[in-house]
Amino acid sequence: MFRRTDPPDCTIVWEGRELPARAGESLAVALLAAGITTFRETPVTGAARGPLCLMGACFDCLVQVEEAQNMQACLVPVTPGLRAQMQHGARGFVEDAA
Ligand code: FES
Repeated sequence: MFRRTDPPDCTIVWEGRELPARAGESLAVALLAAGITTFRETPVTGAARGPLCLMGACFDCLVQVEEAQNMQACLVPVTPGLRAQMQHGARGFVEDAA
C-alpha cells in the first residue's frame, strides 16, 4: 500500500512481531509502511479500524503503546524497540489503588 522513501534505521515490536521503522516517524506511518492497516477493533461491533486523518483528528488509529491504552498512533513518535499492539474494544479500566 505504501512504500518507504528512506530506509528503516530501527525496529519496533507490533503484536510481538518485529517490524522495520525509522526513529522519529509516527507509529502509524511505521505500521502502514509494514503493511499493517488494522490498528484497533471498535467497542460495539468489533469492526476493524485503521488510520484515516494521520493528524490526530479522527481517533481511528488508537493502539496500546507499552502499557498505555488509547494512544493515537499517528501522534506517537517511533523510538527504537517501541512495543505496541492492537486495541481491542474500549479502553480497559484500571482501578485506583488508593
Ligand atoms: S489517524 Fe486520525 S487520529 Fe490518528
